[in-house]
Amino acid sequence: MSRFSDALNGQVGNEFGASQQYVAIAAWYDAETLPQLAAHFYRQAVEERNHAMMLVQYLLDAGEAVAIPGVEAPKTSFGDPVEPVALALAQERRVTAQISALATIAREEDDRIAEQFLQWFLKEQLEEMSSMSALLRTVERAAAVNILLAEDHLARTAGQASGVEADAPRAAGGAL
Ligand SMILES: [Fe+2]
Ligand SMILES: [Fe+2]
Repeated sequence: MSRFSDALNGQVGNEFGASQQYVAIAAWYDAETLPQLAAHFYRQAVEERNHAMMLVQYLLDAGEAVAIPGVEAPKTSFGDPVEPVALALAQERRVTAQISALATIAREEDDRIAEQFLQWFLKEQLEEMSSMSALLRTVERAAAVNILLAEDHLARTAGQASGVEADAPRAAGGAL
């Protein structure tokens, strides 16, 4: 297995780990009766799962071995409704660093196809860091008054940016 494929298999685990973390956050909000925040993170969890399966499809297309890794247990309890979003933003920043590191390996190995494949993920990370920062500001501001203001905001804006984008790489077995 090439160094790139090895690292990409590792990233499959990171994306599934991100997905599990978002499921844990969604379930926490659901238990707190904050259904809009819960719905937002259930959806994010599916997106991260799709990212993992896009990487799996790439490995299949490239004729490389697929070795699905185990994932670390997510954080499941939080002190207040702001904490999960702060954790989510930190996670998105970490994933950005991971994808950037993958792009560096692809460049070092002079693998132009891999470099090109990663462009979509880099663009996606910029978008996810930006939207998670915005959500963090929203939740922080709402929490100072009443967290239900964040629920109202999400209810008004839900569904604006969901679904699989047309330019997204193919996901193994099909995107959910
Ligand atoms: Fe992701
Ligand atoms: Fe993400």
